[in-house]
Amino acid sequence: MGGLTYLDFLAKFGIGGAHPGGFLLTKNILAQEKIPSGSLILDAGCGTGQTAAYLCQEYQTNVVGLEINSIMVEKAKKRFQNLQLPIQLVQGSVENIPFADQTFDFILSESVLAFVNKPRTLREFYRVLKKGGRLIANEMTINTPVSKAEEAEIKEFYAIDSLLLEHDWKTLLTETGFQNFHIHSLKLDLLQGSPAQEFNFSQGFEPELFNILNQHGNMLVKYHDILSHRVMTCTK
Ligand SMILES: C[S@@+](CC[C@H](N)C(=O)[O-])C[C@H]1O[C@@H](n2cnc3c(N)ncnc32)[C@H](O)[C@@H]1O
Repeated sequence: MGGLTYLDFLAKFGIGGAHPGGFLLTKNILAQEKIPSGSLILDAGCGTGQTAAYLCQEYQTNVVGLEINSIMVEKAKKRFQNLQLPIQLVQGSVENIPFADQTFDFILSESVLAFVNKPRTLREFYRVLKKGGRLIANEMTINTPVSKAEEAEIKEFYAIDSLLLEHDWKTLLTETGFQNFHIHSLKLDLLQGSPAQEFNFSQGFEPELFNILNQHGNMLVKYHDILSHRVMTCTK
């Protein structure tokens, strides 16, 4: 892949709602949470800021977007400026969140934990959430154990360090201290995909990124029984 990763593809194509189920699923999940106006929400790994903008507009919440990738940050910044939304955008890592303990009422993690050190990031989420605060996560999950070769192929393509089963997530979240672990029922096939995908292309992106798009499609087909996601919520 010449050093380019799946996340480079997402950033340079400017995919909005770059998570399983897309924006439609985000709206459904948020509608199931009671989100009071004025809540302080961290959109961890906010990408191009589609969900952050929606949270601010629809729920009158105060939103912080935290994102490590400068192309994503630039695209999110433009979105918030165009919509004139007072969203605080911070470039930094979810593994080392630049906010004080007990800051946020909600943390949203839409396909972000998959790409980072999960225990470290979950400890950070726990630290910056207020007591009683809620974590809402939509994350890559395997339906069944995979062979070593399959695991290696998936991990290499997405540049991730581990693949978790549903019960692994439960264990990890519970060990971090979270309570009320709940898995939301939804369509679990990644191939159901993201209706009405949003794009915001970077100028002059590498044609090679189309290969990554193709390979991603091939992975979803090859592993459609295995590679899935779960929407999980829990409370500090
Ligand atoms: C699959 S995308 C999801 C983006 C966004 N949440 C969405 O649903 O559209 C994963 C995002 O996590 C970001 N990311 C990866 N590692 C990160 C880190 N250590 N800290 C903050 N963001 C990170 C990537 O740059 C990318 O924007």
